[in-house]
Amino acid sequence: MTVTITPANPARPDFVGVVAGIDLKNPVSAADAAAIDAGMDKFGVLVFHGQDINDEQQLAFSRHFGPLETATGDIAKAADRRLSMEVNDISNLDKNSNVLARDDRRRLFSLGNMLWHSDSSFKATPAKYSLLSARVIPGEGGNTEFADMRAAWDALDPAMKSEIREMITDHSQIFSRGILGFTDFTEEERQRWAPVPQRLVRRHPKTGRLSLFLSAHAGQIHGMPVPEARAMLRDLTEHATQREFVHAHVWRAHDLVMWDNRVTMHRARRYPADKPRDLHRTTVADSSPTLAQAA
Ligand code: OGA
Ligand code: MN
Repeated sequence: MTVTITPANPARPDFVGVVAGIDLKNPVSAADAAAIDAGMDKFGVLVFHGQDINDEQQLAFSRHFGPLETATGDIAKAADRRLSMEVNDISNLDKNSNVLARDDRRRLFSLGNMLWHSDSSFKATPAKYSLLSARVIPGEGGNTEFADMRAAWDALDPAMKSEIREMITDHSQIFSRGILGFTDFTEEERQRWAPVPQRLVRRHPKTGRLSLFLSAHAGQIHGMPVPEARAMLRDLTEHATQREFVHAHVWRAHDLVMWDNRVTMHRARRYPADKPRDLHRTTVADSSPTLAQAA
């Protein structure tokens, strides 16, 4: 089998590719992993259909792309976890695979995924790739949308580009959850998730393309009063998530979707609160904090 990648939407030839010719249940060759990595550089998001994999197989595939993050951004206590620390639980299920109550703190926290974000931008070294495997889907709703932050940067007018080019933002899960009115954090969580600085504009190390590095976790811009910064971040996010930059992924069971958090944002869409939805995410860490990367 040879790996092939074709655009999901021919009208947008460099955003979201569909991969064929690979079975992630089997070990992946270095050549196939390199072809997929090249596809990530080009498309930012890759979709693999029909991959009925378990966590071991997902972890083995993910490790081709670099060291993995652990789920230190999760609000569930270790004793309540359903999955290993290297697998982010993107579900509405408890340890016994029962659907969480509507007002469960873990469910309310996870609703933060419905805001446009880049994974782990609240960590000093944020995420490079996320790999999300659909084990159970709810049957209605629950799409995941992706926005192309390279195209969003390209479309800004020159004055805005030069104004924001060197800006530094602060990111925290306290900021993103605050948008939804979730403020119920312990003192320990507030300290663990203290704001971290990130560049607002970043350059892809291989393609050299610039992109906007936005996320619901961003709550401050250095040197700017908070309300002005939040208004600006909101304006930029509105610009960056216009429909022309967005692709909606409609899940089928056993899809795996992989995205580059350096050049995209994503968000979950609503689905019925009483229907199970079970997705498992592995996350490849970036190489360094964005301020330590070439501008
Ligand atoms: C994630 C995420 C969105 C979704 O896995 O990081 O934000 O649709 N998921 O569940
Ligand atoms: Mn996410």
